[in-house]
Parts: sequence; structure tokens; C-alpha cells
Amino acid sequence: MTIPTMDVQSKIPMYKQIAQWIGTQIQSGELQYHQKLPTHRALADQLGVTIGTVTRAYAEAERQGLVEARVGAGTYVRNPNQGGWVFEEQQEHVKCHLGYNIPPFIERDQMMSQAMSQLSQSPQLLNQLMLYQSAVGNEGHKSVVCDWLATHNIHLSARQLLFCHGAQHALQLVMDGFCSAGDTLLVEEKTYPGLLNAAKQKQLSLKSVVMDEQGITPQSLETACQRFRPRFVYLTPTLQNPTTATMPLERRHAIIDICKRFDVIIIEDDINGLLEPNAPTAMVNLAPEQVIYVNAFSKTLAPGLRVGFLHAPTPLYSTLAQTLQNHSWMVSPLLIALCCQLIESGNADKVLDLVRQEMLQRYQLVTQYLSKYHIVGRGVGFHAWLPLPEHWKLSEFVQQAELQGLTVKSAELFAPPATAIEPAVRLSVSAPADKNELEQGLKALVALLDSQPDQSFVL
Ligand SMILES: Cc1ncc(COP(=O)(O)O)c(C=O)c1O
Repeated sequence: MTIPTMDVQSKIPMYKQIAQWIGTQIQSGELQYHQKLPTHRALADQLGVTIGTVTRAYAEAERQGLVEARVGAGTYVRNPNQGGWVFEEQQEHVKCHLGYNIPPFIERDQMMSQAMSQLSQSPQLLNQLMLYQSAVGNEGHKSVVCDWLATHNIHLSARQLLFCHGAQHALQLVMDGFCSAGDTLLVEEKTYPGLLNAAKQKQLSLKSVVMDEQGITPQSLETACQRFRPRFVYLTPTLQNPTTATMPLERRHAIIDICKRFDVIIIEDDINGLLEPNAPTAMVNLAPEQVIYVNAFSKTLAPGLRVGFLHAPTPLYSTLAQTLQNHSWMVSPLLIALCCQLIESGNADKVLDLVRQEMLQRYQLVTQYLSKYHIVGRGVGFHAWLPLPEHWKLSEFVQQAELQGLTVKSAELFAPPATAIEPAVRLSVSAPADKNELEQGLKALVALLDSQPDQSFVL
């Protein structure tokens, strides 16, 4: 690494010069992905500046997305393909990320800068977007989103829609708006950990509904409704997280009928719905007054936008709008406008197509490598579900995978309280930086699955 000479006469502050230099070092390949930067003290000594200046320079480089600070470990050059998800990179030994359901890497910078420059061309619009607006979002934005969703066969009414900060926030809005400690919430017997965590914090009483390969079973739902008299059931009918189960139309109707009879509102989390063009129609289309519909742009456009939306039955809408206002007044209209711009320019659909294509290719690799195991998944989904062969215990497998640099998610994380845990792991096929990393990960995974725990398990 060549150490620069600082220009003390320059009008550019010293910390910015250092950040710029880090950028050019990365561009020229002198600094490589994952490489550790010198400690603050070492660089300060070499440059003849204070430690504070280097600290500020590293913070600036991090703000620019060039590096990432890892607590207790130092500052590292970021993987430009890794889309900013750094949780797992904090462990240096990680070889393949199969942990989190993040969108696969696709160049989004061009379309984002296009959308931003388009927005910036109207000073009047920009000034308006910087003001407080209606908590639920402005009518123009709501129409753009509803019209776009209609082209994907999701039919929502703008009057019943509100914007929120992602799907996780939509779930929190429902809980804060309608649930108190001790209330029962029905959930699938394997479900999204973000929901489990939020429900735990609210001290809700979670009751699992038995699933088969099509999602929750009508019999089990009926029994749970009779026994617990819940107000809500939380479901992910398309590309279920973690099992990828997609409920056929007939099952959707059967579930809705039961919910109508017991006056249970369905919280339909359709976060993965747009990925699957052949999915049966959303439950909200079948019974809009029985369903709180939750979705976001996180898996399609970009999770960093933090824009989601919720569609509620009319009698529930005002409570949710008030809850949103209490949380944060509103979602930034600027971010919503960006999403609308991406939709109107056709770029949202282009990204969605690219994501689907990428996932199909990745899923082919998964089936190719894991063909002899009972891998469960659907081509376009971000994840697959892998029941373990009998010779592996769940905890040993997860631990051993981690030791080998493979991050997978244990079935334990998806289990509601008092629910039997299947020995299985979720693989996030979308998470590896590219197909090459995925392939390496799959090879290592197969070798591990094939090995005997007593030979390979190292404490
Ligand atoms: C089923 C499910 N719901 C909600 C979310 C949260 O989405 P968002 O990032 O929009 O908050 C996720 C994220 O992975 C998810 O898998």
C-alpha cells in the first residue's frame, strides 16, 4: 500500500483527502476486498496526522461505502458485490454466506442515480417532498404503487393502503395497533424470525398451526381457532419463510373460509410474492376485508430503501394510520418518491426480472449439487429448506458448518415457542456475492452433509 503525501495547503480537509486516497487505492486494486486497513494509530503516525483525523477519514470512507468497521477487529475494505450486508462478514472465516435472505447482487446504482436525477429536476417537487405529509403517504404515490401492483395481479385500493418502513415495520404496526401482552397470535409452525422476535417483545402468546407442503392445514387452523379464539393469524402464503411452501388456490379459499367463520383477520406477509410470477392469487385479492396485506420493496428493489406498504380492511385502517403516526409520523416522502420513480421508469420491473433470472440460475446450482438430499425450494425464491440426513444432529451440523465458514440458519430460529423442531436448515441462495461463491459453498456443504459427524465434528 502506497502511503500518500498529505496536501496541507489544500482546501479539502485532511480527513477527506485520506478517504479519497482510500477510494483510489481500492479502484487501482492496491487495496483488495476484505483487506484490513492499518490501525488508526499506525496510519496517523505514517501520515503525520492526529488519530482523530484518521478516525474521521475511516468514518467518511465507511459513509461512502468503501470500507466497513468491524467491532473489535478493525476496518476492512468492503466487498463491492456484497450489497452492504455485513453481519456475517464480521466473522473473518466465513467463506459462503447462506444465512440471510438478501436480494442477489445486481447493479442497481445506475437506475438509482437515474431516479435521483429525475427527481432532482423539479425543484417544486423536491420542496414538496421535504415537507411533512399525510402519515399514510400521498395519494399520487399510493396510486402509482397500486397501479403497479395491479400489473402483477395484486389488487389493492389506494384508500386502504399506507406506507411503512418495510415489512417488518408493517408487522410491528399491527402488533402495536391491536395486540396486548397475553393476546394469542396464530402462526405457521415454522415462521419468520423477525415476527417471532417482535411477538416475544410484545409478550404475545404464539400458537403454532400445523403445516404440510402446501402451508398451514385447514384442520389444524380450525382446531386452533376453536381452542384459542385468536384475533389474528400470521401467514406467508407464497414462498413461505423458511419452508418455501406456496399455498395453492384451493387451500387459500379453505383458510379464508375458516377465518371468516371465526372472525380471524389474516396477516398476509407477501414479501416474497412478487418474486413468484406463477403464484396463486394473493389472499387479499380473495377477501380484502379479511386480510391485512403486508409487502415491501426490500426483496425486489432494494432493502436499503426501507419502504414497505400495508393494506388494511377499512375498519382497521385508522388505528394503523394512527400507530404509524405515533411511530415516526410518516415514511420519508423522498424515499417513496424514489420507489415511484423506479416504477414509472420501468426500472422496478427490470430489476425484478433480473432478480428472478438470477435466482433461477442459482437454484439450478442448488438442485444440481444437492440432488441426493431432500432439498425443498422453488426456482425464484431466495431460500431453500434442507432437512438434514439422519446421521446429523441439527446443532452439530450448524456448528460444524460454521467452523467450515458456511453460514446457514438453524430450524430453531424459525420455531415458535413450544413447537417441535425439525432437524433442518435454511439456505439463503440469494446471499452469496455471486454464483461462484454459491458454487463453492454448495460443494463444501455437500462434503459436510456426506461426512460422518463423529469424524468431522471438531470442538
Ligand atoms: C417473511 C418476511 N417478512 C418480512 C421481512 C422483513 O422485510 P423488510 O426488510 O421489508 O422489513 C422478511 C425479511 O427477510 C421476511 O422474510
